[in-house]
Amino acid sequence: MSPFLITRTLPEDATGAALRADVLDGLTRTPKTLPPKWFYDALGSELFEEITALPEYYPTRAEREILAGRAPEIAAATGARTLVELGSGSSEKTGYLLDALPGLRTYVPVDVSGSALAQAGGALAAGRPSLHVHALIADFTGGLTLPATPGPRLVAFLGGTIGNLLPAERAAFLASVRSLLSPGDALLLGTDLVKDESVLVAAYDDAAGVTAAFNKNVLAVVNRELGADFDPDGFDHVARWDPGREWIEMRLRARSALTVKIPALGLAVEFAAGEEMRTEVSAKFREEGVRAELAAAGLGLTHWWTDAGGRFALSLSTVR
Ligand code: SAH
Ligand code: AVI
Repeated sequence: MSPFLITRTLPEDATGAALRADVLDGLTRTPKTLPPKWFYDALGSELFEEITALPEYYPTRAEREILAGRAPEIAAATGARTLVELGSGSSEKTGYLLDALPGLRTYVPVDVSGSALAQAGGALAAGRPSLHVHALIADFTGGLTLPATPGPRLVAFLGGTIGNLLPAERAAFLASVRSLLSPGDALLLGTDLVKDESVLVAAYDDAAGVTAAFNKNVLAVVNRELGADFDPDGFDHVARWDPGREWIEMRLRARSALTVKIPALGLAVEFAAGEEMRTEVSAKFREEGVRAELAAAGLGLTHWWTDAGGRFALSLSTVR
């Protein structure tokens, strides 16, 4: 069994304080919003894994296809000895990289979901006796401090999770990733691509209702953590394509006028009948846009790979 260490860089009380601040800010604005990172308690992480296996949800399969085909090229281009993975979740696709990188010594999965890290890290460590796994419970938007491990470093951000950040958040995030990299290090970035609206909407509004349950799970998180009395059945799941911004927006729409009490904030929040609260954006990209956003952060795109269907892209970039 290889060494498996899990470090919490987010104190439990900081997580609680961040949730309170986000809920207070998001539910007192017009229109109301909640940030997507609060989907991922233990149940939310499980629901996301279920989503990845749905017939309508193509991104995971498309990215797996690219990784399976390109891992040797990624290994040759980076020679990484440390792999840092942001928002690693189940680390299910990461095996392609771990197995292709001959000099890899340390894997650092980073996630806000302690339950996902514990499950994934244990499984990865068990099958790879010489790999050091140092899991970090941390917010990747919050100025990460990484353990001192040997370079070159490859930072992977898979799944298209960068699309869940708003444009200004993406710029700040990419600049913070750039500050973690030294010459010779690289960023491997997964981005879902712009495509037909019907394909996109189906991926976020599946027939089995798993995405609806995932979306409503944020209400259960706020109920449990802040003593709120959201009734998930009082809301409908909505997934809408915004052609101007080129993102899918997930929302929760109040079925009737209702008031939600949030005792931890001393707040009563009113929803009008039909009022929609945004819970996630999932931006879709084009090659020129990804290249420009990386360049603005001081990163130069060196490789661009897509799946055979052209649905999803992995890009590799280095410090300029
Ligand atoms: N990379 C995996 C999982 C994607 S799901 C894949 O490609 O399948 C998104 C993951 O990012 C979840 O595990 C979630 O807990 C994590 N996450 C979301 N926001 C985060 C944040 N701000 N900081 C750290 N992890 C975050
Ligand atoms: C994690 N992230 C890239 C997913 C996405 O597709 O935006 C989260 C998700 N939301 C609904 N389904 C999946």
